[in-house]
Amino acid sequence: MTQSDHAIMPRHVVIIMDGNGRWAKKRGLPRIAGHKAGVNSLRKIVQQCAKNNIGVLTVYAFSSENWKRPETEVSHLLKLFISSLQKEIDDLHKNNVNLRFIGDCTAFPQSLQASINAAHELTRDNIGLKLNVAINYGGRWDITEASKKIATDIKSGELAVEQVDEKFMASLMCLSDLPEPDLFIRTGGERRISNFLLWQIAYTELYFCDCLWPDFDESEFEIALQWFASRERRFGGITEQVENAGRP
Ligand code: FPP
Repeated sequence: MTQSDHAIMPRHVVIIMDGNGRWAKKRGLPRIAGHKAGVNSLRKIVQQCAKNNIGVLTVYAFSSENWKRPETEVSHLLKLFISSLQKEIDDLHKNNVNLRFIGDCTAFPQSLQASINAAHELTRDNIGLKLNVAINYGGRWDITEASKKIATDIKSGELAVEQVDEKFMASLMCLSDLPEPDLFIRTGGERRISNFLLWQIAYTELYFCDCLWPDFDESEFEIALQWFASRERRFGGITEQVENAGRP
């Protein structure tokens, strides 16, 4: 990328890592082989984000709807999360990555919850890339949880209806302490949001590509970053305002 392109790097990238199953099928392999290859892609993209000084990367590893998959695939996926975490955590920590999981983790086996908590504890003070992994996450779940909290606080008298505005609502959603996503990437050819970060991506640039996730490498990521750099982000305003003010 050129010097000026670097000036418009996204601060926060979110990714739906789609296409693992098809990647495996094309090779006559079981679907889990595609997910394993997907972990390798994720490692490369984490490194690229750190190299490019992208502050935050959020990936969708398991949606609230993924429980509908065959039991064997769900079980293989959960095992892969545990083994990948155990394998990668020291390297992530050494590289100053701050790892966080978002979603309803209480639904997972105790062993996975323990690995998640340990990873969180170990990396909580790291000041490098913030890597958020969404598991058993859904945008509708996120909004529902925030609404439940508001309803409970109003009922108990701790909160007045007049205090509820967009800013307050946003403060109750996952990732509220981080910049909103600038760039959303979905690999694997589908043009859908699939219940990912519905609230948070209101003004995010949406990038869809046909490349299957295990094939998404540094050069594919570079193409997505170049595309992002070419976007004019008006946030509801007009071109002249953007030219005068730059990023809000
Ligand atoms: C979607 O592809 C992919 C998933 C549901 C799983 C993604 C998980 C990983 C890449 C592992 C991440 C690991 C850690 C520890 C964060 P798909 O199965 O829907 O592919 P298809 O559309 O080709 O069937």
